[in-house]
Amino acid sequence: MKRIGLLTSGGDCQALNATMRGVVKGLSTNLEELEVYGFDDGYKGLIYGNYRMLSSGDFSGILTRGGTILGTSRQPFKLMRVPDEKGLDKVEAMKQTYHKLRLDCLVILGGNGTQKTANLLREEGLNIIHLPKTIDNDIWGTDMTFGFQSAVDIATDAIDCIHTTAASHSRVFIVEVMGHKVGWLTLHAGIAGGADIILIPEIPYDIDRVVEAINKRNRAGKGFTILAVAEGAVSKEDAKLTKKELKKKQEEYRKKYPSIAYRLEDELQKKLNLDVRITIPGHMQRGGSPCPYDRVLSTRLGSEAAKLILEEDYGYMVGMINGKVKKVPLGECAGKLKMVSPTDQLVADAKRIGISFGD
Ligand code: F6P
Repeated sequence: MKRIGLLTSGGDCQALNATMRGVVKGLSTNLEELEVYGFDDGYKGLIYGNYRMLSSGDFSGILTRGGTILGTSRQPFKLMRVPDEKGLDKVEAMKQTYHKLRLDCLVILGGNGTQKTANLLREEGLNIIHLPKTIDNDIWGTDMTFGFQSAVDIATDAIDCIHTTAASHSRVFIVEVMGHKVGWLTLHAGIAGGADIILIPEIPYDIDRVVEAINKRNRAGKGFTILAVAEGAVSKEDAKLTKKELKKKQEEYRKKYPSIAYRLEDELQKKLNLDVRITIPGHMQRGGSPCPYDRVLSTRLGSEAAKLILEEDYGYMVGMINGKVKKVPLGECAGKLKMVSPTDQLVADAKRIGISFGD
């Protein structure tokens, strides 16, 4: 008999349900008795004791369903130790819910912030397994997070669609891609979608180099240019600022522009005699069904999580390294961000075929 808790926390993505299905199927086919408690809306459900008992039927038919059957919310890690508006100690409340239900293990699906809280709960003595979710692919200790490849597909589709209209009108198009502070999604979708210029946070851009790349294309008779721009991209100038100065500058930008794409559009319009347009696929990148790659990845990660629970081997994130499913101690990976290295082979390959990074 095992009693496990499940929760999904942070921004949603495509393969959350597929991953939970992997865990529960892996357990229910190997156990006589299993009780599954699904917490509503992430850590909120654990804090306030809002949960449902789930049966194996709840996990049937959800392999292809996007979003999360449990609901999710953002509960910032930095506020976890801060009492709520009624003075409730959130960490103590989560521990109480866990012990009241006599859980053997809590399986937590989420990104970086979620992982930090998962590690905090592990340090507080709870049995935890974390599964790496995010379209940003920025979790240290795994080559791939589930959700990422599905988002790459969607962002790539967006860039694909822009090609024909950009070419017909001889325009410069800025496609703004999600990814938070990292450029994985933009780099992959940019290459897959045939973008001419890719701007990512890890490789600060010089606007004059971007203009130069656009002019070079025009001189070569290519009337249009597509820029895949990460929402967190930074200019070389801004990258030199201290953290405090950058924060101030970003506040100024926010007052003037809704996002980086609008700032770039403004800067490019001033320097180019060309039509510039913006496309932002936004939350579409987190929506819809998981792609086949993510369904396989989620099933494997979920299945491995079930194995660890059966072996009572807790305190890990289950990740994928060099094509192999691996358990990574939570204490080792929590709090670390996986960024694109400017010297990554993928960047070098892209540069070799003429993609500009504006550096
Ligand atoms: O972390 C996933 C992500 O989609 C980021 O790429 C993006 O910056 C952020 O979440 C958007 O968050 P929200 O849904 O809260 O607007």
